[in-house]
Amino acid sequence: MSTTFQLDTSTSRANPTPQPMRRLTVPRIRARKVDGVTAEPLVMLTAYTARQAQLLDAHCDLLLVGDSLGQVIYGLPSTIPVTLDMMANHGAAVVRGSYHSVVVVDMPFGSYESSPEQAFESAAFLLKQTGAAAVKLEGGAAMAPTVAFLNSRGIPVMGHVGLTPQAVNVLGGYGARGRSDAEAEKIVSDAVALDEAGAFAIVIEGVVEPIAIASTKAVSCPTIGIGASAKCDGQVLVTEDMLGMFERVPRFVKRYEDIAGVIDRTVARYAEEVRNRAFPGDDQTYQPKD
Ligand code: KIV
Repeated sequence: MSTTFQLDTSTSRANPTPQPMRRLTVPRIRARKVDGVTAEPLVMLTAYTARQAQLLDAHCDLLLVGDSLGQVIYGLPSTIPVTLDMMANHGAAVVRGSYHSVVVVDMPFGSYESSPEQAFESAAFLLKQTGAAAVKLEGGAAMAPTVAFLNSRGIPVMGHVGLTPQAVNVLGGYGARGRSDAEAEKIVSDAVALDEAGAFAIVIEGVVEPIAIASTKAVSCPTIGIGASAKCDGQVLVTEDMLGMFERVPRFVKRYEDIAGVIDRTVARYAEEVRNRAFPGDDQTYQPKD
């Protein structure tokens, strides 16, 4: 169950001293689904920086260092150009900024698809560099042998089926999947293959709701939906999307805030005060001691 707690940021802005508590583990996440039922849905959000992780950690069960950082942080057109080094640097920051959630790091495109051995080398690099507990990779049945290979060698794997953004050039876009019978059957059988291979959880992204529900019922591990269904065993969103950092978001995103608007109004005030010499004021200015 999620635990809320206070973050003590009094010591340092960069290195707060949170009250120590034990981090959730992959087996505890996996065990949240019992006989096909997850009593309390799993909460996952993306995180890319230490401060973001500090703010999200107490509310989440899992923090995903998603390769969506390519678009969100680096302004890239897709996740295809994201590198292992990018994932390692941001993953390490998120682990440093959290002490409660299980941190999962995305395997970037090109770092795992060619063989289970390539995947092991990349995943081991990510876990060593970051201290994260698990990796996520995209793909269904084709990736099942890789999931089994990693799992049996000490690397927990989260799967990802349905709309898999790294395959955008094959899929032809980011539209919802599972509208045809053949596609729907493939998504469910992909999820089953990953489950049987030992994935501890599976992200189901951008699929029509009945397929998300059928996949969730078909697997023993928790499913985590994004653009899928409230009946998945958990949910994930890109944090910047749900905070309202971007004007354009996919239909499945709920914008809980308008942080872009808050930043715009705040920076406009700052700029005005600098220009009319109202900032810095007496409170922000050092004077010689008497
Ligand atoms: O990269 C990412 O942020 C993801 C989530 C959208 C599931 O894979």
